[in-house]
Amino acid sequence: MCGIVCYVGTQDAKPILLEGLRRLEYRGYDSAGLAVQDGGEIGLHRSAGRIIDLEKKINDVAIPGCTGIAHTRWATHGEPTEENAHPHRDQEEKVFVIHNGIIENYHSLKKKLAKSGVKYRSDTDTEVLAHLIAGHFDGSLTEAVRKTMSQVEGTFGLAVIHKDVPGEIVVARRGSPLIIGVGEDGNFAASDVAAMVRYTNKVLHLNDNELASITAEGVSISTAQAKEVQRPAETVEWLPEDAELNGFPHFMLKEIFEQPETINNAMRGRLEPGEGVPKLGGIMPVWNDLKKCRHMVIVACGTSYYAGCVGRTIFEKLTEIDVEVELASEFRYQKLNFPPNTFIIALSQSGETADTLAAIREASRKGATLLGIVNVVGSSIARETAAGIYNHAGPEIGVASTKIFISQLTILTLLALLLGRHQNLSLTEGVEAIKALGALPDQVRQILSQDNHIQAIAEKYFKYNNWLFLGRKYGYPIAMEGALKLKEISYIHAEGYAAGEMKHGPIALINPEMPTVAIAPRDAMYEKMIGNMQEVKSRRGPLIAIATEGDEKIREIADEVIEIPHTLEYLYPVLATVPCQLLAYHCARFLNRDIDKPRNLAKSVTVE
Ligand code: F6R
Repeated sequence: MCGIVCYVGTQDAKPILLEGLRRLEYRGYDSAGLAVQDGGEIGLHRSAGRIIDLEKKINDVAIPGCTGIAHTRWATHGEPTEENAHPHRDQEEKVFVIHNGIIENYHSLKKKLAKSGVKYRSDTDTEVLAHLIAGHFDGSLTEAVRKTMSQVEGTFGLAVIHKDVPGEIVVARRGSPLIIGVGEDGNFAASDVAAMVRYTNKVLHLNDNELASITAEGVSISTAQAKEVQRPAETVEWLPEDAELNGFPHFMLKEIFEQPETINNAMRGRLEPGEGVPKLGGIMPVWNDLKKCRHMVIVACGTSYYAGCVGRTIFEKLTEIDVEVELASEFRYQKLNFPPNTFIIALSQSGETADTLAAIREASRKGATLLGIVNVVGSSIARETAAGIYNHAGPEIGVASTKIFISQLTILTLLALLLGRHQNLSLTEGVEAIKALGALPDQVRQILSQDNHIQAIAEKYFKYNNWLFLGRKYGYPIAMEGALKLKEISYIHAEGYAAGEMKHGPIALINPEMPTVAIAPRDAMYEKMIGNMQEVKSRRGPLIAIATEGDEKIREIADEVIEIPHTLEYLYPVLATVPCQLLAYHCARFLNRDIDKPRNLAKSVTVE
């Protein structure tokens, strides 16, 4: 969802900005643009569509200048046209601004500005920012932005340049991510580390209601109240190669194949096999309260929500804690009333999901303690929670989440195990869990080695327009996640259902035209799943089973079987997810879909 990249330094800005925009492509967008400053001149170039369309337009155009701002827009206010693409400018074409987020009071601001004679060129909320900043400009761009910040309601990560102050970019943030990069040949700002990781790994995070003036020489940060802020740069762990395909046709496939390493990264330095207790340094600030906690709420959206649903069942198995899982977008509108010492876990790969942020803010207001499980270091959720655990999964570029889902399951298991071991869980159970966790990476490799087999299944079924995914207990959220993956990237309609619910309605859909994927490992729900699979088969529904290796009974019932290795019941979700991901991937590939950038979707959903 909308991306920002800015550069000011000694090099030509155009190639750096285009490279940054390409790195942000995965976030989802429908138009792109940039503005480059050369002394007192600013060149504006925009295009509807993909970055490649913008590149085609400007490839042969000389765009001199070492200061520039660039943007990918995901339409919210106004269609994805060139006129609505960012940067936007004021009447006199002196101020150029790019913006992520939503200006909520833009209607009233627009009306006021229109009365004073301002003519609009676009349908966007962002354009008001350009006019307001121009109106406040009195020699200092920082002050003009500061005054504008006090007038606008809503969320923003923004960057501005002004014709009269060459070599300066002012950025500001409220509720939308904005990171400053400190480089050798200049400085950067971006909505996402990926945009600048090729040039620098030294970053400064802006907090909400802060702004910064960035020049080739340095960065000065201040608050909306004009208080200077001193903040040391941090080093990010992500490597430029993390954002390369390395021979894979899609990032999604690369990330699926990275999963053995993702699990290792989630566990690295965190396992103590002899004691059967994981070590999670990030939660130590709240440990005394956490170990006494008896009520937890996991809040999340989409794929992360399904990881939370698996997490609840794992907590139920390993701990004495009551865990609820809530969709973040619904949670904050409920009447929240928490027992003392309630912990809220915000589960989010990006750490920037607007619904999840809003949910935890509301929960914090009601007295709960916040924990974060996030992948992006320094993200808003990481900073707004009292303590937390990082996934350390590296960047996930494919819009449909794969490896971070697996990482979330791993981390939730570690947390449940840690808490369980301080409650009723025995040493033997702890040691057994750690042994089984340690075996997961190789077991995932074993499933990945069946890629050709899964591709052949996809080839047989990708033309079917409706699919059903069934599972029970640990398998139910995996059925939902499997269905979500398939619909997201292949646009095939798929539903994830609790298998026991099938006869209460969906069974009416079963016919030879509707494949069912059954998550059926040898767990406590096995016999019941067999019953459900037989119900599908007796109605001549094509049946694809994900089953434990060597399961002859399932081979007799199902048309296709994908085998997963044996593990502990509560770790089957990790293994059962992988065939679902590959099935979705190959169906989407046979359908020639834009797998890494599926239509209408954004990687990081920063609007509610
Ligand atoms: C789907 C997917 C989304 C995200 C959801 C929440 O593949 O990735 O459903 O899980 O938008 O995002 P995060 O985890 O960043 O809070």
